[in-house]
Amino acid sequence: MNPVETAIGDRTKGCRLLARRDAVPVAGTLGALGRTAERAVRAGRIIRRLHEFVTRGETERRRVSGARSIEEATALALVEARERGVVTRLVVNREVGSILADRVQLQQVPVTLTRNGRAPRQPGDRREMTVEAGPVEPATVEIPVSDKDPGIADAVADRLFQPFVTTKPNGMGGGLSICRTIVEVHGGRLKVERNGAGGVTFRPTVPAAHDGDASHVH
Ligand SMILES: Nc1ncnc2c1ncn2[C@@H]1O[C@H](COP(=O)(O)OP(=O)(O)O)[C@@H](O)[C@H]1O
Ligand SMILES: [Mg+2]
Repeated sequence: MNPVETAIGDRTKGCRLLARRDAVPVAGTLGALGRTAERAVRAGRIIRRLHEFVTRGETERRRVSGARSIEEATALALVEARERGVVTRLVVNREVGSILADRVQLQQVPVTLTRNGRAPRQPGDRREMTVEAGPVEPATVEIPVSDKDPGIADAVADRLFQPFVTTKPNGMGGGLSICRTIVEVHGGRLKVERNGAGGVTFRPTVPAAHDGDASHVH
């Protein structure tokens, strides 16, 4: 496991060990501290920009067909999954009506969730994922994304949605935090649970559009 925060913590500890030596290798210690600080600042800046972009209110939410926009949003994810040999099922309940959504932003949600669900993979994995969409009470559409393994690592289970939390060697830990922000600016919620198949189910919701809501259905 190597969260960015842990990587930064480990390097800082390394610097402290160096600094405790009798003959302190000052140049090396300073260099390592500098690179650590740079990495922290850069990661923070990227994630902050993404959040600002999503929350700034420049999004264009329109009344769109829920079924069509979810199929469209998932299409890219399905192609990517197939290329990696992952069988992904999409099950859209016909009773999904219209929703208010910025389609480009909303697309990031299934894309990020299905990408997360495929890596890292080991031989023998059950390479199957399911994306569903269906109405739930009250006036809400839920789009559960489920996989079958490897399940959530205990070490990060209660802070998956925090920026910088990652178990991947080169992960940035921004995907789920951005996803949750996108879902929340749409007026929905993003929850996660361990499922009975040994994997994880993420449950983003978006509110159904009301009759008076702006614009036409695309
Ligand atoms: N489908 C999943 N199954 C198991 N763990 C997951 C899944 N999705 C996310 N996670 C965990 O949540 C962490 C954070 O995910 P994310 O915010 O997308 O950042 P990143 O993908 O850069 O690690 C992942 O590193 C992983 O530990
Ligand atoms: Mg991710």
